[in-house]
Amino acid sequence: MRFIEFGGNNTKVSEVILGTMRIWEKTPQEVATLIETALDSGINAVDTAPIYGPSEGKIGEAFARMPGLRDRVWLQTKLGIRPHPRIKANYFDFSYEHIMESVDNSLRMLQTDHIDSLLLHRPDALMEPEEIAKAFEELHEAGKVIDFGVSNQNVAPMKRLQRYLPFPIAANQVQISAAFTPVFDSFFNVNMQNEASAMRDGGIFEYAYDHNQAVQAWSVLQHGYFGGVFLDQPEYAELNEALERIAADHNSTKTAVAINWVLRYPAKMQAIIGTTRPERVSESAAACDWEMSREEWYEVYLSAGNRLP
Ligand SMILES: NC(=O)c1ccc[n+]([C@@H]2O[C@H](COP(=O)([O-])OP(=O)(O)OC[C@H]3O[C@@H](n4cnc5c(N)ncnc54)[C@H](OP(=O)(O)O)[C@@H]3O)[C@@H](O)[C@H]2O)c1
Repeated sequence: MRFIEFGGNNTKVSEVILGTMRIWEKTPQEVATLIETALDSGINAVDTAPIYGPSEGKIGEAFARMPGLRDRVWLQTKLGIRPHPRIKANYFDFSYEHIMESVDNSLRMLQTDHIDSLLLHRPDALMEPEEIAKAFEELHEAGKVIDFGVSNQNVAPMKRLQRYLPFPIAANQVQISAAFTPVFDSFFNVNMQNEASAMRDGGIFEYAYDHNQAVQAWSVLQHGYFGGVFLDQPEYAELNEALERIAADHNSTKTAVAINWVLRYPAKMQAIIGTTRPERVSESAAACDWEMSREEWYEVYLSAGNRLP
């Protein structure tokens, strides 16, 4: 396993993170087994969020069941997505009150006294950076949260928020996979008039470089927006052939190659895996065991249907 230095204390956090959005049918014992498998495979990080239903509660129960487990894990949760009280939809809330309330609730659900990393889950149009900064500083001083980051944020709001924060935004969690590549498409298609040239994120990789920020990729095996896994899908036959070929050359698997591809980008990259099966956790952790060549990286990008200028 490879590790990055994360946040203000340069904490060693694994490049592969165990995501827990899909553990709703798992028992606390199964969740404990999943986390232990991750730890045994070199993954020391767990990602959750209040909006993932029972996820935080099940992780908390797993911690309670296995003394010492919490202390071996770097724990990240999020906040700001709330079910609307009247309309059947979620809305976003980065108000001071909601931030403070959400963290206290997460600490209770997770049965812990601190969160290692707290992310603002999806940008709130009504956010006021002063309010967020006040909440973050109080949470940090109280020892409830160590580092802070964002998720699904463009560069402009990150810049606005950063102006008010006394510490750097440690991470930006965004969707990236071999079959979901807008971050790369706009990078390649400079000053062109095709659809791929549209830079909609404002250059999140460049921002991450400049601010020592981790980029955490979510849904690393999915196509589209929650479109499903691309592995073994006929519509991604060429991509699967490329993954298979590269896997054979490295005594690896298609899953590990797909994760390796995301991690290969030369920034502080992390990949959040969403499997609920212990055997796939170990397989995914092995993604870090070797480094993909430039030719292999481009083979995957092009096999997914992308075209370079
Ligand atoms: N910040 C955000 O807005 C955001 C949004 C979405 C997710 N996330 C985070 O990212 C994490 C990962 O997201 P994700 O769950 O969408 O990621 P993912 O790893 O791309 O997808 C996981 C799904 O793929 C299946 N899968 C894994 N390996 C497979 C294989 N070899 N063949 C077939 N199916 C396979 C899993 O099924 P099995 O369980 O059966 O293996 C699971 O249903 C989440 O848990 C969450 O922590 C963040």
